[in-house]
Amino acid sequence: MEGRVVLSDLEDAVVASPVVADEHDKDIERVLISEREIQDKLEELGEQITRDYTGREPLLIGVLKGAFVLMADLSRHIHLPLEVDFMAVASYGAATKTSGVVRILKDLDHDLEGRDVLLIEDIIDSGLTLNYLLKNLRGRRPASLEVCALLKKTGIQRVHLDVKYVGFEIPPDFVVGYGLDFAENFRNLPYIGLLRPEAYRDV
Ligand code: IMP
Ligand code: MG
Repeated sequence: MEGRVVLSDLEDAVVASPVVADEHDKDIERVLISEREIQDKLEELGEQITRDYTGREPLLIGVLKGAFVLMADLSRHIHLPLEVDFMAVASYGAATKTSGVVRILKDLDHDLEGRDVLLIEDIIDSGLTLNYLLKNLRGRRPASLEVCALLKKTGIQRVHLDVKYVGFEIPPDFVVGYGLDFAENFRNLPYIGLLRPEAYRDV
């Protein structure tokens, strides 16, 4: 077998390969949640959602742009027929703060009436964006409406929210990666990281 690469060798190589310090990584102070931890959690959430929605055909609604990575990975851990749709929203205010005033930039293609809707969010910070969205979606008369968020910052929500599926509770710091941006950057990092303070100042 000398000279031939077999699949198991390739798999070992992929698992063992270190994170390459590229232009992005140099701005990351610390990895808060690794790629492996995220993927394990998504498998767990996917199993739970599959169980909860057995016999139904849920409609997953991703909130752009942050949820695009989560939507792609999580939906493949849900072993049911399902449909996906996206909404794009923007909250007025500074880059790292939310104002609670939400503007819909792209609305849904689907009619929600009678559907089992699962809203997919990257992160719940103040909760104001989600609060606005839930009110808006409830008005469209879905059969059910639940939320799945990858991250929830601990103890800083300004409104009470019922979030059925939460990946990780994290401290109330600004994080990037896995869909989350700072000034539209870092969304493609496969992990959740904390930015170095200099990275904020450079913008
Ligand atoms: P909220 O309305 O304060 O809950 O914030 C909602 C939106 O703000 C999220 O969907 C994100 O797009 C953005 N956001 C909140 N916290 C962070 C963060 O730590 N990093 C990147 N984006 C964030
Ligand atoms: Mg953002």
